[in-house]
Amino acid sequence: MTATTSAAQVTLREAGPDDVEACAQICFDAFGGIQDHHRFPRDFPALEAAMGIMQAWIPHPEVWGMVAEVDGRVVGSNFLDERDAIHGVGPITIDPAAQNMGIGRKLMEAVIERGAGARGIRLLQDGFHMRSLSLYSSLGFEVTTSCVLVRGQPRSAPDGAVTVRPVTEDDLEECAALCQRVHGFPRTGALRDAVHATAPFAALRDGRIVAYVTAANFWPMAHGVGETDDDIEALLLGAAAAIGEPIALLVPLRSELFRWSLREGLRAVKPMNIMVRGDYQEPQGAWFPSVLY
Ligand SMILES: CC(C)(COP(=O)(O)OP(=O)(O)OC[C@H]1O[C@@H](n2cnc3c(N)ncnc32)[C@H](O)[C@@H]1OP(=O)(O)O)[C@@H](O)C(=O)NCCC(=O)NCCS
Repeated sequence: MTATTSAAQVTLREAGPDDVEACAQICFDAFGGIQDHHRFPRDFPALEAAMGIMQAWIPHPEVWGMVAEVDGRVVGSNFLDERDAIHGVGPITIDPAAQNMGIGRKLMEAVIERGAGARGIRLLQDGFHMRSLSLYSSLGFEVTTSCVLVRGQPRSAPDGAVTVRPVTEDDLEECAALCQRVHGFPRTGALRDAVHATAPFAALRDGRIVAYVTAANFWPMAHGVGETDDDIEALLLGAAAAIGEPIALLVPLRSELFRWSLREGLRAVKPMNIMVRGDYQEPQGAWFPSVLY
């Protein structure tokens, strides 16, 4: 990139398997740059973590990916998770040498156009990042919920009255119905992937699923839904005991779950905002979002 490079020289095309390495390097550098600048821990501590997400997202049949190029060189990418009725945006990352030149705006406009027929599209943005907050707001996204990433080993022992066990394919329908009751839409696509990729858990009372989480220790892909705060807390205690390592999740600030996390000794790591374009209804129950929504 040169000082005279402008957004007009940028072309967009769909991402393909050959883009994995370039996109991963940019993702690693872009998040590292902004998070180091504000002295928050990195989302992608090593290049391998960024490779992991690109290796999963680029070939995924239900994830739409775009790269931006200047003179045939990839300078950024963006993704739209189309697994469920509400689509999720990200990660969007621009080569640090090419930021603030209008490329992010182009890549966001592309996913907005692509998602025009969806019920809505959503994302989470780092609350300390003024550029992404301003860009998404100017494109019509609205902050609906502020969250904080919390991490740690809960102090309490699991609740004996609640069974916590892995989610299987057979549970998808029951979990979809629970998510529908809480959010007004199911997230079966994301949960089905989780059954094969992470370690999702369900909490049961009298044999009925009252809460589920798609991952207890991988917060970017961990969304959780429960009938009540008690259900989701019992789920997290059971999952923490089962995996035997710290849990991490994004808790809405205006929720009992945040105060519960603090009582359990979890540490607040960083702020993130949920931003929404399109359909939205206030959730009815207990919940927390993944890095997508
Ligand atoms: C966030 C990111 C994707 C944006 O892409 P970009 O190409 O740098 O952004 P653009 O130049 O297209 O747009 C930035 C907009 O924010 C505006 N902006 C930047 N800082 C601002 C501030 N402090 N206040 C108000 N507006 C601001 C710019 O003026 C521009 O608006 P304009 O298009 O109306 O002129 C990119 O900077 C990036 O990769 N950051 C690091 C990784 C990251 O945080 N990704 C997002 C994860 S949610």
